[in-house]
Amino acid sequence: MLANSLVELDRQHLVHPVSSFRGHEERGVRVLRSAKGATVTDSEGRELLDGFAGLWCVNAGYGHESVVEAAARQMRDLPYATGYFDLGAEAPIRLAAALAERSPGDLNHIYFSLGGSDAVDSTIRFVRYYWHSKGQPGRDQFISVEQGYHGSTTMGAGLTALPGFHDGFGVPYAWQHKISSHYLYRNPLGDDPQAVIDASVAELRAKVAEIGEEKVAAFYVEPVQGSGGVLVPPKGWIKAMRDVCAELDILFIADEVITGFGRTGPIFACEDEGIVPDLMTCAKGLTSGYIPMGAVFMRDHVYETIAEGAGAKAVGHGFTYSAHPVSAAVALEVLALYEGGLFENGVKAGVRLMAGLESLRDHPLVGDVRGRGMLAAVELVTDKVKKTPLPASMQPATRLFDRAWEQGLIVRSFAQGIFAYAPPLCCTDAEIDAIVERTRKVLDLTLEDSEIRAVLR
Ligand SMILES: Cc1ncc(COP(=O)(O)O)c(C=O)c1O
Repeated sequence: MLANSLVELDRQHLVHPVSSFRGHEERGVRVLRSAKGATVTDSEGRELLDGFAGLWCVNAGYGHESVVEAAARQMRDLPYATGYFDLGAEAPIRLAAALAERSPGDLNHIYFSLGGSDAVDSTIRFVRYYWHSKGQPGRDQFISVEQGYHGSTTMGAGLTALPGFHDGFGVPYAWQHKISSHYLYRNPLGDDPQAVIDASVAELRAKVAEIGEEKVAAFYVEPVQGSGGVLVPPKGWIKAMRDVCAELDILFIADEVITGFGRTGPIFACEDEGIVPDLMTCAKGLTSGYIPMGAVFMRDHVYETIAEGAGAKAVGHGFTYSAHPVSAAVALEVLALYEGGLFENGVKAGVRLMAGLESLRDHPLVGDVRGRGMLAAVELVTDKVKKTPLPASMQPATRLFDRAWEQGLIVRSFAQGIFAYAPPLCCTDAEIDAIVERTRKVLDLTLEDSEIRAVLR
């Protein structure tokens, strides 16, 4: 009864992010009630394995009392402190220092946001300010990668390269350019990693030449493209792109909103390629989703240039809740949990997850399996040779999500028929195995769908 009335209230009043308003009204909300470890329980008492850690964010898993205590303690002592007027609080200061110590190279200066989108948006402002400070205000053109996702603020949505975030919104702007994704499985160049790297390098150079070298401000990448379908670049791709940016004096921005905090193994995925970006964004795993927070990391030269450019003037960028003490207290405790064993467990579980998903390759519907660590995808096709996507008429996003749900599994299901996995790092072997087994069950059931039977060969 309670659940029914919630569904109705939700339908009437709550606008859901990235949803079909009409589709959602029709389907209604599924209300989650509680969670522990990697398991969430819905309002009907159904237990589900959360193979997506909420929205690839609850890296530490649910139900850590120590995190609750850290938040409560901070709320009792000092629930809010502004960072304006040269004020501050202990937790954010300690957090900034702890993150600087753990970040690659000299990414020593940290601006806190409320999440990933406003972290990305902040980088756009900092990058513009940086070039003004350098006396090159004409460097105002930005390049990102097709299939990339960089949040959905007005400016960030234009760096994002997914049509659903553009259509009807009047973005991207003319100053926002794209180069092709590496997307190995569907790359027209084939899947030779070096050929894909060489082509991306050539395309970036060509794009910069077309725009004008003196006009390009920054290049944005995700170490693994998440919302585009978990597209893992060939080893060496990120490093090659970083090197081109260094050579052409273009700022290189790594968007680690998904990949940060152990998702691919190390604390930051940039470590996988041994690179130091000029700026880096993170969110999600920073607080493991227990409370909102994001961050922008700046290298020394970026910070110094902005500081020198501004002189005694204020750099006019700030949010009321930047460096929120409760969020910072949570982040510090989450970091302690990660370093107290969760990172280590995540690496182990990631190996098991990848091996388990690889074992699905023999299934008639599995075209590709890809991933790194606890970030993975299975791409479904009806013809493995032609790589034919599932028929759009079967609405894979909702049908496959629903079917996984019926099996007690939450995974993200993209419209192209891609399952994305990002389980909490706390997963046990048995939980990883259950994610794989339940996926196989979903695939088997999907084989029986009339739309699939009509086209499968
Ligand atoms: C790479 C990347 N950047 C930015 C964002 C936006 O973060 P948020 O949803 O916290 O605003 C996301 C969210 O998924 C992301 O994956």
